[in-house]
Amino acid sequence: MDALDANDNMLALAKEKNVYGRLIQDFLGTNRLDVEDGEYDATVMSGGFLEGHVKCDCLEELIRVVRPGGFVVISMREVNLRKVPEYRNLEPRMAALQSEGCWEQVSRDIFPDYCEGEEGIIFVYRVC
Ligand SMILES: C[S@@+](CC[C@H](N)C(=O)[O-])C[C@H]1O[C@@H](n2cnc3c(N)ncnc32)[C@H](O)[C@@H]1O
Repeated sequence: MDALDANDNMLALAKEKNVYGRLIQDFLGTNRLDVEDGEYDATVMSGGFLEGHVKCDCLEELIRVVRPGGFVVISMREVNLRKVPEYRNLEPRMAALQSEGCWEQVSRDIFPDYCEGEEGIIFVYRVC
């Protein structure tokens, strides 16, 4: 299991957990990461979709690095789907990628007390 973050300090915290192999310092966006197509069984992004952080345009790259049949899992505060202008386009973009045959939704679950008393949402997609 590898970890990616743009921030060195966050990667240093990740290293302390002794669960990650490669620590990748890079921006997630439209740029191509130094990762092969289909290299991973899954990508998991937790807390990346937070105001001023990762944009919706990163979805293609999250998909590209996962093998067909693998999974993309995204968790975020549910309220940010409406509150943050950038993320109002997130679910339409996810649906468009499904129409384009890139992935299919497995689940979309809302749950209480994700962060600071706010609800969370977890999307799970299977890569096609
Ligand atoms: C709320 S923290 C979540 C950190 C960690 N994933 C967790 O769940 O504890 C958001 C992280 O996203 C990183 N980040 C923001 N924009 C990024 C981008 N475009 N590419 C890579 N990392 C980014 C920040 O450096 C920060 O560490």
